[in-house]
Formats: sequence, C-alpha cells, structure tokens
Amino acid sequence: MENNQEQKAVSMPRIGEPAPVFKAVTTQGEINFPADYKGSWVILFSHPADFTPVCTSEFITFATMEKQFNEANCKLVGLSVDGLYSHIAWLRTIKEKIEYKGMKNVEVMFPLIEDITMEVAKKYGMMMPGESNTKAVRAVFVIDPKGIVRTVLYYPLSLGRNFDELYRIIIALQTADEFNIATPADWRPGDDVIISPAGSCGAAKDRMEGKEEGLECKDWFFCTKKLDKDTVLKKVLKK
Ligand code: BEZ
Repeated sequence: MENNQEQKAVSMPRIGEPAPVFKAVTTQGEINFPADYKGSWVILFSHPADFTPVCTSEFITFATMEKQFNEANCKLVGLSVDGLYSHIAWLRTIKEKIEYKGMKNVEVMFPLIEDITMEVAKKYGMMMPGESNTKAVRAVFVIDPKGIVRTVLYYPLSLGRNFDELYRIIIALQTADEFNIATPADWRPGDDVIISPAGSCGAAKDRMEGKEEGLECKDWFFCTKKLDKDTVLKKVLKK
C-alpha cells in the first residue's frame, strides 16, 4: 500500500495517452477534467504556490495572453496545492496591486484548481519531492481536443516559463495535425515544414532525383516543403 502510494506520487501522464480524469473545485466553479474541455486544446499547468513572485509574474503573463490562446482553440487551467480562498485572495491582489512589465489590472479569468489534498498533483506527477515536498513544480500538460496528452514540460521552482513557447507549441501541434507534417527546430508559422521520411528505397531515390515537386531535400530522409504563414493561421486561428 505504502509502495503504491509512493508510486502514485511519482506517476506522470505520458505523451500519446489519455489525460487522467479528475473532478475539482476551481476559482471558476467545479470542473470535470478533461470531459468539460472536449473539442478544445487545453494547457493544464501547475505552479508552486500562491503569493510568490515567480508565480505572480507567470499568472500576469498567462492571463494577458489568454485571449490569444483562446483564439487558437486553447483553454488554460491552473493548479496549485493551495486552497480556494488563498487562490481568490491572490488573484484579487494581482488585479488590484501588481504591475509586471507594464501589465496591470490583470484579471485571471481561467480556472485555478484548489488541490490541498494533492490528489490531482499526484495524478499528474506535479509533485517532485527532490525539489519540494510541499509545492508542485511548474508542470505543463498540453492536451488535445480528444483528451490525449500531446506535450509535457517540467520546470523547477526557480524558473518562470516562456509563454511564447507554450503558444508556439499549440500552433505547431495543430499545424502538424492539420497538414500531416512535422516542424523543425525553432519553427514558427511561415517557416518550411518537414514531410514524413521516404518509406521505400524507390521513394528515397525519387526524392533525391527531385521527382516530387515542391520538396527541398537535404538528404533522402530530410525533406522540407513550403507552408506559408497565412495558410497556417487560416487553418489554426480560422483567420
Ligand atoms: C515563486 O513563484 O517565486 C517561487 C515559488 C516557490 C519557490 C520559489 C519561488
């Protein structure tokens, strides 16, 4: 039993598997996860504690970008192992008192889960005892409209996340799904994309001989094609 509990504390959702199910109280009412988010992308993320500076800078940044994420059909859900009244008080303080990088009067509209029992944090592998026994690390789970985990990121307590990168991940995953391609290092909409590797010796030869139009092949296994920014944004942002 003890072993089982320990096991639970270190378990984590894996890419390609269904997001673990839970019910929780949040600053926006009760949620059933991931059922309530069917049809949307979701970023479920944890932060170590309310009323701490790095977390405050993160919440101001994320809340300011929420509309941008929503336009990409992505909803945000936060979690810490604090209680509901602490969450409410912290979000009120952020709105009333805190300015960060010119962002002020920021209202956090996305739900923030209370998880005093650490039930959700343990289910999602957000507790890392080597880092802290009492605070969740900065975990990020990107979950697709079918409830499948598509990306997992972990940051330590001292390191605030890069929210531009989280947005890039949402756009890149949707682009990969919509156009059946992969995205290379540091890809941004408008950059060339990678097509699936040649599946036979014949296809490899054809590619190297330039028989497939529109491809640029650095070698038989590494071929890119153009995918313009407007086409990507039209599909992903419906613009
Ligand atoms: C912070 O958000 O500032 C923070 C939280 C926990 C430990 C260290 C820093």
